[in-house]
Order: sequence, then structure tokens, then C-alpha cells
Amino acid sequence: MKEHERETISDRRGFLGKLLGGALGLGLLGVLGAVVAYILPPHRRFVAPVRRRQRVAHAREIPLGKGKQVLFGGEPVWVLHLREGLIALSARCTHQGCLVQWDEQRGTFACPCHGGRFDAHGNVLAGLPTRPLPQLRAEMIQDEIYLAPREDR
Ligand code: FES
Repeated sequence: MKEHERETISDRRGFLGKLLGGALGLGLLGVLGAVVAYILPPHRRFVAPVRRRQRVAHAREIPLGKGKQVLFGGEPVWVLHLREGLIALSARCTHQGCLVQWDEQRGTFACPCHGGRFDAHGNVLAGLPTRPLPQLRAEMIQDEIYLAPREDR
């Protein structure tokens, strides 16, 4: 084999090695990005779907000690009727947006996607979520339950 043929083969191997290394590097970056997005999803600020008060249920639909999922401007919201009063929380998990379920026995919300748990006030108890469930203002007026955005959020 002549000298210039050896150099051409060596150049090709070097080029293919760099190309393969670059592709592997990009693939690893993609995997790393996906893992980071899974653990630390982007912070999405909760925006109430409507700006004014809206009737969502009659009082008899949510007796004391019970919770019910309602729609507020098309968004799922949990309304709890506890001894301390009405509590309304977004039903969307703050990790990646799955819908949380109220576990009446434990008095907590459970997310079916990655095991996130929240207390009755939306505070994070366990799992991957790092932010509480956003709260809305809930009030009872003449046996009707109304929700409204909270001004302090
Ligand atoms: S979406 Fe991941 S824990 Fe709820």
C-alpha cells in the first residue's frame, strides 16, 4: 500500500471517529436533558382560567368531610369541605400536570404519575413535586359554592 493511500484511510478513520463521538455526545445530552426535565420540570405559573367568581356546585354535592372535583373555567379543581371550611385547589400536579386524586381515608391528594402526595392544603408531602397545588378562593353563598382566583397569587 502506498503512503498516500495509508494517509487517506487514516484521515477517513479519524473523521468517522469524530463523527461518531459527536453523535454520541449529542445523544447523551438529549438523555441528560430528558432526565433533568423529568426531575425538574419547567416552572409553570398557575393562571386561573377565569378572572371572576363562578358557581361550581350546590352545597349538598359536597357535604362536610367530602371532596369533589369540579370544573372552573374548564380547569379541574378539587373542592374540599372540611371542618375549617371550604378549600379549593387546582387538580393539576405541579410536577408534570397529571390530575391528582383526593384520598379521603388518608386526607391527602395522590398523583398517579410519579407518586407525588399533597396534604389537604396542597402542600407537598412526598414525591417529585416541589411546589404546592395552587389554591383558589372558595365561598358558600346561600347554599351555592363559588370559586374565584385568589388575589394574593
Ligand atoms: S406528575 Fe409527576 S408526581 Fe405528579
